[in-house]
Amino acid sequence: MINRQIVLRHRPVGVPVASDFALIESPLPECRDDHLVVRVDYLGLEPSARPRMDASSPYSVPVALGEPIPSTGVGQVIASRASGFVPGDWVFVHSGWQRYAASSASAARKIDPGRAPLPKWLSLLGLSAFTAYVGMTVLAPPRPGETVVVSAASGATGAIAGQIARLHGARAVGIVGGPEKCLYVESLGFDAGVDYKAKDFAAQLDAACPHGIDVNFENVGGDVLGAVFARMNPHGRVLLCGLISQYNAIDDARGPNLWRAVYNAIRIEGFLASRHWDRIPAFIDEALAWAEAGQLQQREHIVEGLEQAPAAFRDLLGGRHLGKAIVKLTD
Ligand SMILES: NC(=O)c1ccc[n+]([C@@H]2O[C@H](COP(=O)([O-])OP(=O)(O)OC[C@H]3O[C@@H](n4cnc5c(N)ncnc54)[C@H](OP(=O)(O)O)[C@@H]3O)[C@@H](O)[C@H]2O)c1
Repeated sequence: MINRQIVLRHRPVGVPVASDFALIESPLPECRDDHLVVRVDYLGLEPSARPRMDASSPYSVPVALGEPIPSTGVGQVIASRASGFVPGDWVFVHSGWQRYAASSASAARKIDPGRAPLPKWLSLLGLSAFTAYVGMTVLAPPRPGETVVVSAASGATGAIAGQIARLHGARAVGIVGGPEKCLYVESLGFDAGVDYKAKDFAAQLDAACPHGIDVNFENVGGDVLGAVFARMNPHGRVLLCGLISQYNAIDDARGPNLWRAVYNAIRIEGFLASRHWDRIPAFIDEALAWAEAGQLQQREHIVEGLEQAPAAFRDLLGGRHLGKAIVKLTD
């Protein structure tokens, strides 16, 4: 059997282009002690792969030239030298853009396609949704009546963060690019969608947040964060989940005026969901229960074929999707 991988050929300058990637064939990964080898059926595209394509990345270890692009993935174990895993098990792994991936046992997690179809383990039950859950239930759970503003609200993480804020009884406002996306987040139950690309963005944000902002779930950074920050109430909480507006930036990134954090005693907290894995079982039970009760939805934007991953990744960075961006792999 032959593996197919999409690897980094050149380090992108700005937005990645097709020639930054190469589709290669390679032998199947070997199964080392305490490891498993997985046939990956679906890849979850993750924006954090972009800063990792740079030579030095503040986010995590940079990808070396010739290595697969990082991603999440779900599939079936085909070989195991790890206790607790046998061929045939279904798992979530950090696969990378490839059909067959080796994973340490500690980085793999069993999933049950009997509880939810495979792509749902990347969307409703995946890393992005879990990130939203950690932020909105553990780190900065909003109180009833508070105003929560979520940026990149039509995407995989933001859409879930806003819906969980609503489940806490908070007012949820989603910042998105374009009027269609405003309607989309309102259809998910957000109290208002606000278009950051519109000329009257500031006025829209004021109208949507008449009592200021208590909690900010921040996915974007730059000018969007600046606009939110300027409206934060005393003792507000800012959760820095991601800064996607800066991932392709070549120049120095812009940001908010931090003086407001001083005089309004605002708490700013960055976080990585991967440091909270112990909460995954509770998250899955709760997310499935909310979904069954019609209180939590997540769209999937699925393209088919490994060779489509680079274009789908560009679309993800450019916001040309709703919900979780996924690539289905077939032989
Ligand atoms: N801390 C963690 O553990 C963790 C884990 C997972 C994800 N994240 C972060 O969460 C954020 C969202 O990731 P995701 O996977 O859920 O992606 P996503 O929201 O599905 O897609 C990215 C979204 O970002 C928006 N966007 C792109 N460039 C923008 C810009 N310049 N200004 C404003 N909005 C922009 C686009 O929406 P528009 O069309 O509305 O512009 C797009 O929908 C990212 O920052 C990611 O790094 C963090």
